Amino acid sequence: EEIEKGGYDHFMLKEIYEQPRAIKDTYRGRLLADQGLIRMAGIDQNMEKFLNANRIIIVACGTSWHAGLVAEYIFEDLARIPVEVEYASEFRYRNPVITDKDILIAISQSGETADTLAAIKLAKEKGAFVFGVCNVVGSSIARETDAGAYTHAGPEIGVASTKAFTTQITVLTLIALKLAKAKGVFSESRYHEYLTELETIPSKVEKALQSNTLIEIIADVYKDSTNCLYLGRGYNFPVALEGALKLKEISYIHAEGYPAAEMKHGPIALIDEHMPVFVIATKKGHYEKVVSNIQEIKSRKGKIIAIVTEGDEQVRDLADHVIEVPETLESLTPLLTTIPLQLLSYHIAVMRGCNVDQPRNLAKSVTVE
Ligand code: G6P
Repeated sequence: EEIEKGGYDHFMLKEIYEQPRAIKDTYRGRLLADQGLIRMAGIDQNMEKFLNANRIIIVACGTSWHAGLVAEYIFEDLARIPVEVEYASEFRYRNPVITDKDILIAISQSGETADTLAAIKLAKEKGAFVFGVCNVVGSSIARETDAGAYTHAGPEIGVASTKAFTTQITVLTLIALKLAKAKGVFSESRYHEYLTELETIPSKVEKALQSNTLIEIIADVYKDSTNCLYLGRGYNFPVALEGALKLKEISYIHAEGYPAAEMKHGPIALIDEHMPVFVIATKKGHYEKVVSNIQEIKSRKGKIIAIVTEGDEQVRDLADHVIEVPETLESLTPLLTTIPLQLLSYHIAVMRGCNVDQPRNLAKSVTVE
């Protein structure tokens, strides 16, 4: 096992550090930026179905559901296709309206999650076209779907999902870009800008990982907290949810993710000098609005740990700690802002003496209801 960990103390840390490579492996052979091409057989062969679909329904559980939420923003923003994201466990039991004009995308690292598999079967019975985004090759979901695209994250051993999440977002971004191009909603130059920017993501993730020492210092300050709040807007709202989930899963600290603007409808009542608030405040996408949310937290004496774009001055003046990530296109920011939140959870859990790779009560893949 020590050999498999490749010199890292835990699988989770190894997998966090594997993300630049995992993301690259996921777009390698698919993204041909110099030719202005994205090749994905599962989409190419079914392009008509995607172009004629009324809507896309995404089903998943856990971290994969968060990747689905990011995908909702990407598909609607870039490809202008209506999307709904559902917990597989709710979807299958609520008599959903599904027709043969719907496309169901199932996202699953393991490809074995019982609820996701059941949601697929239901959608197929109703005539929907089902597309899978799985990591494990030949898994039940990969076999049950009509078509699909694998993430190439490699084996994920840590129960808390890390590289599966960023590679799922990578695959879903490639699909959205293909559809945007095919639908003609993207200009050549915008399309090209996305393709070339995507290729810079692995090195930007690498750069985000360099904040590890700073993050360890921050983790030490907040490791004894009993509650934490995570806030983000737009593309970074699902990242806030995922940040909170990571902390809960492995450190057993109660954490809640919220859309930053919803704070005033409840969570703001919780804020006092004992409440750490992790805010994603990158430059693109509602920046000024998030800054005003940060001011509201500050005036209630909450502790602010902000994830900001490199070189940010405004939030630095307000926050107790800032962690920088490189600048990128707004829709690609989740691939970077997720990284420091993964590291934070990891270090806090280690400092609390928790079993990071195998947290209590959780399973890597939930094959029963
Ligand atoms: C379990 C795991 C999570 C995972 C979820 C969905 O709860 O502990 O890490 O996100 O299942 O799993 P899947 O394999 O379908 O992505």
